[in-house]
Amino acid sequence: MEVITVANNKGGVGKTMQCFQLACHLANKGNKVLVIDLDSQANLSSTFNLHIQRTLIPEWLIGDVSINEVMVPSEGKGKFNRNITVIPSSRHMANLSKLLILSEGEIRKEVGRKERLMRTRLQEAEGMFDYVIIDTPPMLGDELIMALVASNRILIPTQAQDYSIDGLEELMDTFEIIKETENPVLEFSIIPSMVNTRRKIEQQRLEELSQSFDITPPVRNLVQMQESISMKRPVCLMGKKSRGRVDYENLWNTLNLN
Ligand SMILES: Nc1ncnc2c1ncn2[C@@H]1O[C@H](COP(=O)(O)OP(=O)(O)O)[C@@H](O)[C@H]1O
Ligand SMILES: [Mg+2]
Repeated sequence: MEVITVANNKGGVGKTMQCFQLACHLANKGNKVLVIDLDSQANLSSTFNLHIQRTLIPEWLIGDVSINEVMVPSEGKGKFNRNITVIPSSRHMANLSKLLILSEGEIRKEVGRKERLMRTRLQEAEGMFDYVIIDTPPMLGDELIMALVASNRILIPTQAQDYSIDGLEELMDTFEIIKETENPVLEFSIIPSMVNTRRKIEQQRLEELSQSFDITPPVRNLVQMQESISMKRPVCLMGKKSRGRVDYENLWNTLNLN
C-alpha cells in the first residue's frame, strides 16, 4: 500500500485537483484507492459527490471510532468509482487540534506522539487498498504533519510565481525534519502547476525552480481542467489528445504512478 500526500502550505495551487485526477487515474487502472480529505473545506469530498454533516476524522485519529466508521464509497459516476473509497471531511475537521490537546495523555500512552496517529490508524487499511491519496489544508498544521509521517511520498504542486516559490522553502524544511526524525523513506516531487506557458516570467521562474529542485513536467493552466472538476469528469476519461490528459499522463509516467 503506497501512501501519497499532496501538500502545499499555499492555497489555490492545485492540490485538490491533483488528488482528484490521481485517484481517478489509479482507480481507472484497476487499483483500489482510498482518498482521505483532511481539509475542512471538503472540496475533494464534494468532487466525489460526498457532502457530510460532520466528519469523524478527529475521532478516528484519536482512536474513538474505527476506520470502517469513517470510510464511505465514492458517489462519483463512472465505473472506476467502484474502486474508490473516501474518508470525507467537513467543517468539523477544524476541531482537530482542540481534540488532540484534550486527548494528549492517551495519545502519549498509545502512540507516543500525535504525529504518528495517522500512520497508526492506517495500519487498519493495510491489504484493503493499493494506494492512499491524502489531500491536506493549506497550512503547516497537525493534519499535514500527520499525513507526512504516514506517507511514502509527498507531491507538491506549485505555481511558477515568486511567492509560491518562497513558500516552498518552509514546506521543504518541514519535509526534512520529518524525514530525519519520523519517516526516513519519505520522498518528494515538485509539480509545476497551473502553468501559463506563454508567459515569459513563468518560464523564467520554472527555469529558476529547476535549478534548485528536480521538478516534474508541468501541468498547464487549462480551462478544461476547471471543467473537469465542475463536471466531476477526470482527465483520464477525456480524449487521448486533450491537453489536460496529455499533461497528466506525462506526469504520471514520470512519477511511475500507473
Ligand atoms: N491546471 C489547471 N488549470 C486551470 N485551473 C486549475 C488547474 N488546476 C486547478 N485549477 C483550478 O484552480 C483552483 C484551485 O485549485 P485547487 O485544486 O482547489 O487548489 P488547492 O487545493 O491547492 O487550494 C480551482 O478552481 C481549480 O479548478
Ligand atoms: Mg484544496
